Amino acid sequence: MAEPIERNLGLDLVRVTETAALGAGRWLGRGDKEKVDQAAVDGMRLHLSTMEIDGEVIIGEGEKDEAPMLYNGERVGSGSGMVVDVAVDPVDGTTLTAEGLPGAIAVIALAEGRGTMYAPGSLVYMDKIAVGPEAAGMIDLDAPLEHNLQQVAKANGKDMADLRCLVLDRPRNQGYIDAARAAGARISVLRDGDVAAAIATSQQNHEADILIGIGGSPEAVLAAAALQCTGGEIQCRLWPRDQTERNYAMDNGLDLDQVMTTDDLVSSDNVFFAATGVTGGEFLRRVNFKGDR
Ligand code: FBP
Repeated sequence: MAEPIERNLGLDLVRVTETAALGAGRWLGRGDKEKVDQAAVDGMRLHLSTMEIDGEVIIGEGEKDEAPMLYNGERVGSGSGMVVDVAVDPVDGTTLTAEGLPGAIAVIALAEGRGTMYAPGSLVYMDKIAVGPEAAGMIDLDAPLEHNLQQVAKANGKDMADLRCLVLDRPRNQGYIDAARAAGARISVLRDGDVAAAIATSQQNHEADILIGIGGSPEAVLAAAALQCTGGEIQCRLWPRDQTERNYAMDNGLDLDQVMTTDDLVSSDNVFFAATGVTGGEFLRRVNFKGDR
């Protein structure tokens, strides 16, 4: 008897992010980030419900009481088919979209199995470093930044002066910006959207070499899923904002010194990832409406 044809979930996922991006794209430049998010969530959820998966949202729109849809713990899909953990960001860059600026994407990842994606709980920030396939295995979050930059420059065949580092433009990241410039590298500061930035390091043209700095924890898990697919690498560490978050970590047995690897964030051997550009940016074009198309 012929083997059953295995459906490639990746193709279904592209429809999911496309629908989210098209929905959000209608709100591009209209100054309303809530509407951007809602349109993307609606589109994403509609398509997800048609997929033959038994999914549980691990990285979603937040806890159930704050997110009516795609909340953490929500079951998605038909309920039969592959058992998967699900991570979504219907729009990474809602503010960018509302303000009509580049860098926003719709993203989703599936990892086969249960307990295959890290759930950061209430600790919403992580210190991160992410690189593409050539530099995978060469970075160490515990090492000085200059050492990591030298390693990535070597791996990507560049002089330090041509190395381009992406970093979220936040006061908490100023130390990294100063250190990278002091080491002789170039910095591109991002207003938002560090999932796209992490993925951009995997492009073969090496226009972006490394993502550094403190950004969202859910975004780190999504980036890890993408980098599992491209062969890149992310390392990160929980970054509590204050004593309350430090206490939360202690009460919940979270190790604030631990360097988490790509595998710690997404441990499955079978990972699917899709992204669609909403406002365009480092590696994806934006949604463009013209006439009835
Ligand atoms: P949006 O909430 O506007 O979609 O922004 C997303 C984002 O820029 C992520 O890419 C990033 O990881 C996180 O926010 C950074 O958080 P904060 O803006 O609180 O510094």
